[in-house]
Amino acid sequence: MSETPTSRPTPRRFAASGPLRGTIRVPGDKSISHRSLMLGALAVGRTTIRGLLEGEDVLATAAAMRAMGAVIERDDEGLWSVHGVGVGGLLQPRQALDMGNSGTSTRLLMGVIASHGITASFIGDASLSGRPMGRVIEPLSQMGADITASRPEIGGGTLPLMIRGCLPAVPITYRLPVASAQVKSAILLAGLNTPGITTVIEPVPTRDHSERMLRGFGADLTVEEADGVRTSRIRGEAELTAQDIEVPGDPSSAAFFIVAALIVPGSDLIIENVGLNPTRAGIVTVLRAMGGSIEELNPREVGGEPVADLRVRHSALKGIEVDPALAPSMIDEFPVLFVAASMANGRTTTSGLEELRVKESDRLTAMATALEAIGARVTETEDGLLIDGTRGEQLAGGGPITTQLDHRIAMSMAIAGLVSRDGVEVDDTRPIATSFPTFEIMLSERAS
Ligand code: S3P
Repeated sequence: MSETPTSRPTPRRFAASGPLRGTIRVPGDKSISHRSLMLGALAVGRTTIRGLLEGEDVLATAAAMRAMGAVIERDDEGLWSVHGVGVGGLLQPRQALDMGNSGTSTRLLMGVIASHGITASFIGDASLSGRPMGRVIEPLSQMGADITASRPEIGGGTLPLMIRGCLPAVPITYRLPVASAQVKSAILLAGLNTPGITTVIEPVPTRDHSERMLRGFGADLTVEEADGVRTSRIRGEAELTAQDIEVPGDPSSAAFFIVAALIVPGSDLIIENVGLNPTRAGIVTVLRAMGGSIEELNPREVGGEPVADLRVRHSALKGIEVDPALAPSMIDEFPVLFVAASMANGRTTTSGLEELRVKESDRLTAMATALEAIGARVTETEDGLLIDGTRGEQLAGGGPITTQLDHRIAMSMAIAGLVSRDGVEVDDTRPIATSFPTFEIMLSERAS
């Protein structure tokens, strides 16, 4: 989140609501939006992007690509165009790249810069500046980048940091020690301008938007899967050709409304154009296993990604044990899943979620504290939460909830407010603009 000196926390109380009905459309996918700007900027020619998410995180990526030479414009109808500089053609930015709250912008752009002959500094807000960058510093250093980060004792280094790219960089074969699409993507993006074959091995496959889009732009990239292990190889130096991209709706944003419709009695909501890439759709699988009524209508493909309209109806949810193997396909949806679990019949158990501790906030502690504060029964473990639901009874409500500059904590607790007796006060709604600037308007239009 980019903070101006005059910007002050914006608290808000989210009250109990009537049923959610009608039809909505959530904004474009954040992961795909970042990648379309980056690859557009590295392609030759004019890339157009329809449905780009105009949230602060994505705008930070756009500003960075502009600072490195791409010409990026938006017309009055919301069509974005990117005039790329070509792989290898990025210019040295004159000022530090301000990544705001965005881990995806930071880690992917570090990959892009690692194999260019330029130097860049990265800065960000307090949340981003506490997040571990060692996971990208390690492989990118192996490729030859020279990276100086702050506080190496925290996860191998944090922002502010400086990266000097290496030309030519060295192709590597790297086995991911943590399941992270950001780390995988950073290495593949570095591989674009690296002569030879750069290989990433993923013991636990993560979202594959980078692979799909790199191929769409004409990169020579192969993906093999054997015994659940995915190996991606990219051949550099690549030449990318400009594309016309349509960004599907973000399943991570849709998740807030899916859960809202499931837990608010009488709801029957259609959410149009939701991206359902299997590497992202774990939340739908889990909510269905809990008894949630989520119907897929009009399945189709948008921009090389599977998409459908979802019809979601209020359902009596039951607690389940969530398979930790599903975690990568719903890694951003746990905060709102915890809200759904708080309303279920019986206990929901989650485990294998250590990664949630290094997101925009420590999402296990943040959600355990927030849900307890409004009357839910939660036990925090090292790697998950155990939640005993109310069986559809309203939560007490309360607050103020500390969101810690984390958009998903703010939105999850806003949804909890809809099923609370006294409402839920969120201490600061500003972070919501990083990923879903229209969330509050959409919520007040649907839930009243
Ligand atoms: C993202 C990957 C995930 C996710 C983040 C977006 C991406 O992060 O949490 O919101 O676009 O690649 P990790 O790679 O850290 O799991």
